[in-house]
Amino acid sequence: MKKPTTAIIVGAGHRGLCYAKLALSMPEKLKIVGVAEPDPVRRANAVKLFSIPEEGVFERSEELYDRPPLADMIINGTMDSLHVKTTIPLLKAGYHVLLEKPFAINEAEMWELYKANQRYQRHVNICHVLRYAPFYAAIKKKVMEGEIGDIINIQLTEHVSYHHLMAAFVRGKWGNQYVCGAPMLLAKCCHDMDLMMWLMDQDEPVQVASFGSDFQFAPEKTPPRAGTRCTVDCPIEAECPQSAKKYFLDYPERWKAYAWECLEYLGEPTLEDKIKSIATDNPYGLCAWKCNHDNVDHQSVLVNFASGATCSLNMIGGSPAGERKIHIIGTKGDIYGTFDTSKFVIRKIVQTYPQNFSSETVDVKETGDMTGLTGGHGGGDLRLALDYVNLLQGEKPSYSCTSLEDSIKSHLAVFCAEEARKESKVVSLRERFHMNQ
Ligand SMILES: NC(=O)c1ccc[n+]([C@@H]2O[C@H](COP(=O)([O-])OP(=O)(O)OC[C@H]3O[C@@H](n4cnc5c(N)ncnc54)[C@H](O)[C@@H]3O)[C@@H](O)[C@H]2O)c1
Repeated sequence: MKKPTTAIIVGAGHRGLCYAKLALSMPEKLKIVGVAEPDPVRRANAVKLFSIPEEGVFERSEELYDRPPLADMIINGTMDSLHVKTTIPLLKAGYHVLLEKPFAINEAEMWELYKANQRYQRHVNICHVLRYAPFYAAIKKKVMEGEIGDIINIQLTEHVSYHHLMAAFVRGKWGNQYVCGAPMLLAKCCHDMDLMMWLMDQDEPVQVASFGSDFQFAPEKTPPRAGTRCTVDCPIEAECPQSAKKYFLDYPERWKAYAWECLEYLGEPTLEDKIKSIATDNPYGLCAWKCNHDNVDHQSVLVNFASGATCSLNMIGGSPAGERKIHIIGTKGDIYGTFDTSKFVIRKIVQTYPQNFSSETVDVKETGDMTGLTGGHGGGDLRLALDYVNLLQGEKPSYSCTSLEDSIKSHLAVFCAEEARKESKVVSLRERFHMNQ
């Protein structure tokens, strides 16, 4: 029997731990032997959860760079702007890296990482977990099997609920693109762009156009008389739908990992702790228009492919419910589905007037779970970690497997979309891609 692959967690935050937990459900596949994490509470939590020996405990990724590798792979769960900075020296030190998305925050560092890995030749795979969600994996399989013929058009929609928008992209860690490094399209929808490029991998993306803005939270939308901290100095708090009290104190469990991150050191903070925090130094207590927010809340992207096929992605923040929809139209039929219900319908063109198609509804929940793995992103998080471990163990990876090279086009499409949106122009993705190859 093969020995388990060994891993070190770099950045033991929310995401780093979620992949590492494969070691708890499949100890025969993965063993966590180290952690590098500056936060003492998080570091201690990881040590306890995975029984990490003392020699595997580090305060920062930097301590791993100039010594022989202590494990086969790294799970890099640091924040967006640290991905490239931390990964290149880890590749140099001899590790394979499972790297969170977005794997780079701008085009220059994206190519820097790509070129560094051409030198080191490690397995760098990006955590595009939706490829592993049974819903999208089943759709991809139908496309690969030619069920709907050649793709003419794909319409992807991501609705980000009003409370998710507020917790992550207005008051949260991704609220200011200059602080976190990533515009909202990159932070939220590089997955969707990855799905588009994955489904279209027989074609070549050539041009990108995009529009979008901050419709709701731009400074000029600030309500007259708004205070700076909702529960402290705002005369309109009671009538304001964006009040921090309504989002975070009336529903303290919703998005608690983000809203109460600054109280993590308390273990289980009480409601009193939370009320005090919202009134003092918690960024989630700031007025939604005065919290250093600088990002769009909605954006549309249009991509033109070499074959003449076109694909669109609509990201809309602030909707009543979070929802991802997909509609693929091919020469022989179409596929229409909603990720959140895990159901899609396939209609095939048949000449049977008046109903010109035959249709089949696929309930992905009922097709059975091949791995028995459940959890975040429709089970995608742990399946992705398992596929990566299988790859390192010399097994054939699944068709969802995505290397750094595979992820270049989707990230590049996001960078081109941002340029297109900001400069009101159509950007040639093809040119950018070939310029750097
Ligand atoms: N794949 C997905 O679907 C998905 C979903 C959400 C977030 N993400 C991405 O995951 C990443 C992590 O997000 P998160 O919410 O877990 O962040 P987080 O802030 O909870 O975790 C990051 C951790 O990195 C640590 N860190 C900082 N500098 C370090 C260093 N030099 N060495 C080692 N550790 C260091 C921080 O102390 C922190 O604990 C982000 O890039 C985010 O965009 C991906």
